[in-house]
Amino acid sequence: METIHRVFVGDSRELAAIDDSSVELAVTSPPYPMIEMWDDLFTGLDPAIGDALASGDGRTAFEAMHAQLDLVWDELERVLVDGGIACINVGDATRSLDDSFRVYANHARVLEAFESRGFDPLPDILWRKPANSAAKFMGSGMIPPNAYVTLEHEYVLVFRKGSERRSFEPGADRRYEAAYFWEERNRWFSDVWTEVQGELQQLQFEDDDLRDRSAAYPLEIPYRLICMYSAYGDTVLDPFWGTGTTTLAAMCAGRNSVGSELEEGFVELFDDRMADVPGLSQSVGRTRLERHREFVTRRLGEGNPFEYEADHYDTPVVTKMERGIRLREVASIDVLDGGVENENDDENEDKYEYRATHVPLSLE
Ligand SMILES: C[S@@+](CC[C@H](N)C(=O)[O-])C[C@H]1O[C@@H](n2cnc3c(N)ncnc32)[C@H](O)[C@@H]1O
Repeated sequence: METIHRVFVGDSRELAAIDDSSVELAVTSPPYPMIEMWDDLFTGLDPAIGDALASGDGRTAFEAMHAQLDLVWDELERVLVDGGIACINVGDATRSLDDSFRVYANHARVLEAFESRGFDPLPDILWRKPANSAAKFMGSGMIPPNAYVTLEHEYVLVFRKGSERRSFEPGADRRYEAAYFWEERNRWFSDVWTEVQGELQQLQFEDDDLRDRSAAYPLEIPYRLICMYSAYGDTVLDPFWGTGTTTLAAMCAGRNSVGSELEEGFVELFDDRMADVPGLSQSVGRTRLERHREFVTRRLGEGNPFEYEADHYDTPVVTKMERGIRLREVASIDVLDGGVENENDDENEDKYEYRATHVPLSLE
């Protein structure tokens, strides 16, 4: 099996290179309005944002930043198939402007944007970022009533384009082979995720500073969402591609991907990470299988038998639907376009394209 991964260096307010109704799932995390690290980026997109911030007008700045994201949501809506799912990871912002502290509810504004474009909201997920010290409360004081709660969660807002679900031919292998284990379903489809960092492999960044500058999310977030909301053969879009975590997750999950990113520096660095993908995908697959075997041992120990056997692995499963599960790993990646190995290509300098070859997960 092969998958194709395309990245465009450019502005997602116009995704001209991506056809209408050509992606089945979007998984993304935009720059969060009113978080200071993104002020310059938003001001570059609309200089009036800088003016509003400078004059302490938070409401105007907030709305103008979301107006820029809205242009990307328009494009996302255009390229997503009917019934396709959009998963938007976003956090709210707390900020003092003109000596006045408040929350800017990004999640509520993004929800409104999608509803107004005809998407149906589905139950969302809260994921809790690891809290590390009491220092986070510094400055909030110990005397009521003017202290503030610290935000330690983000949202994954989930939407379906239109009211109709996607349909598949009966018994479609690409859907049944992409099934997840029963106990994974119980964790992944819970509305609060507390253990998203460290369940699978941590991503390595050559450049220590890169994760901070890009606000990359943990691999688990896009990996789970891709497994939950797409089948093999589908294409996953990330219009705020950053360091390409969504593409790495799509490669590990055996889906195609397409993304767009303003900062060419991030995209160039992706080539350095390609060598790690085969090992990463193998580790992700094996970790899932090992965790399943641990679950089997626990459940049998509790005296609960299994009714079904997996078709491709020597392990029992709880439900009939899990029998066809087939995990894959990446055997190799070829750079088709734009990457350093293809200097002769001058057709589209802003496009990077990779082909991943997948084989069944090796067990030893
Ligand atoms: C929160 S980061 C995404 C991080 C990414 N999920 C990762 O794991 O690396 C948002 C990214 O969106 C990019 N961006 C912001 N506005 C954009 C636009 N209009 N078009 C394309 N990329 C944009 C920023 O440069 C930034 O890299």
